Amino acid sequence: MDLSIIGSGYVGLVTGACFADVGHNVICVDNDAGKIEALQAGKIPIYEPGLEEVIHRNVSAHRLRFTGSVEEAVDNSQIVFIAVPTPQKPNGDVDLSFIEKVAREIAGVLKSYRVIVDKSTVPVKTGEKVAESIKRYNRHGAKFDVVSNPEFLREGCAISDLMHPDRIVIGAESEHAIDLMKKIYEPFMAPILVTDINSAELIKHAANSFLALKISYINAVSAICEASGADVEKVADGIGMDRRIGRNFLDAGIGYGGSCFPKDISAFITISEQLGVPFNLIKEVQRINVAQRERFLKTIREKLWVLRDKKIAVWGLTFKPDTDDLRSSVAVELVAEMLREGAQISAYDPKGMEKAREVKTMAGTKFTSSALEATDGAEALVIATEWDEFANVDLAMVKERMTTPIVFDGRNMFNPETMRQLGFHYHSIGRASVVPR
Ligand code: UDX
Repeated sequence: MDLSIIGSGYVGLVTGACFADVGHNVICVDNDAGKIEALQAGKIPIYEPGLEEVIHRNVSAHRLRFTGSVEEAVDNSQIVFIAVPTPQKPNGDVDLSFIEKVAREIAGVLKSYRVIVDKSTVPVKTGEKVAESIKRYNRHGAKFDVVSNPEFLREGCAISDLMHPDRIVIGAESEHAIDLMKKIYEPFMAPILVTDINSAELIKHAANSFLALKISYINAVSAICEASGADVEKVADGIGMDRRIGRNFLDAGIGYGGSCFPKDISAFITISEQLGVPFNLIKEVQRINVAQRERFLKTIREKLWVLRDKKIAVWGLTFKPDTDDLRSSVAVELVAEMLREGAQISAYDPKGMEKAREVKTMAGTKFTSSALEATDGAEALVIATEWDEFANVDLAMVKERMTTPIVFDGRNMFNPETMRQLGFHYHSIGRASVVPR
């Protein structure tokens, strides 16, 4: 089928590449001329495992191309996806101005029937507004249908999530649009759930806030574990073995970050309030997430006494492994706070260094070229993101390089007993701290 995707950010680019890979003809659009030029020259603006290969393969096969023209895209496709950013406003509300602008642009060049699909994460009832907007600016009076088709891809494994989805949600009113959407997704052989537009939009916010709830739940349990001497890993295994609960998303840590959870949770809270049904449970999820980071910082302060002039190594800056994304990264916030308190930070991240250098709140950080180098002369090591690379570092060498072997593991990467035997003072999340005998 002939498809176009307006917005070549994370979601748009990965979705476009995967649609092309299953045989559709895809045009990816962006209003950033520099980005389009780079993409046309074969340069991929984000790090996502496997993405470069899929893009190159499909560009060579003439199934995928890039343009700055919405008109060219709309003229040459049966279905037009909107995948533009929906950032958070300072009041927690969602900024829908990019969606509205694209809806107007599409309407202005709409000459015959098209299905307009919203893929961006939006508050419930946005589809209605998009339809109203297109109707208002529809100069040629062309027929169209609006569909909501939320994405559920995770950064770091976006290609595999897209190629093997748990489900496809299609929110639509028109049978014709539903048929076309089903045809697009046929090659993915995934269960398809057809709903009304409002329900599809709500599914996305409800799914993300439920996942965030699981994380905050286990993080709250981790505080109880620390206070009582229990082990959060064992508790998570024990409750996770109940199939109704499941073990996924029960890894205690320093809290969730990224471009989706913090923003979507805020948006869901705001929408629920606007609809007159405040979702206080989700407010608590958000509160626990902030408290978890504060608790970790409190442990660091308690153990190191003063942070001023202390040399602290930090492993991991991205909001999670296998991405170069630093948006709302808890690691970045930890570094910023320790810098504010006068610590000297040496940080290393396998993929996030380039973007990290541009983060203003981390100015003053010394960026090193390896995990080991970051620990040179360090008085403490903070593990903030659980990259596989860190699991393979020679810990005996780390201990040798550090001035005082104190480790604060915000992601429970290591076994406390092993760390004790290696001679570390080791503090992790929801597990008893250990000191060398
Ligand atoms: C998330 C959703 O998973 C995805 O379905 C949606 O489309 C976009 O938002 P993503 O932001 O890529 O995806 O990351 P995800 O893997 O969900 O992790 C989010 C945050 O939660 C990370 O900071 C991660 O470290 C944290 N996390 C995750 C935990 O702290 N514990 C866990 O058990 C799982």
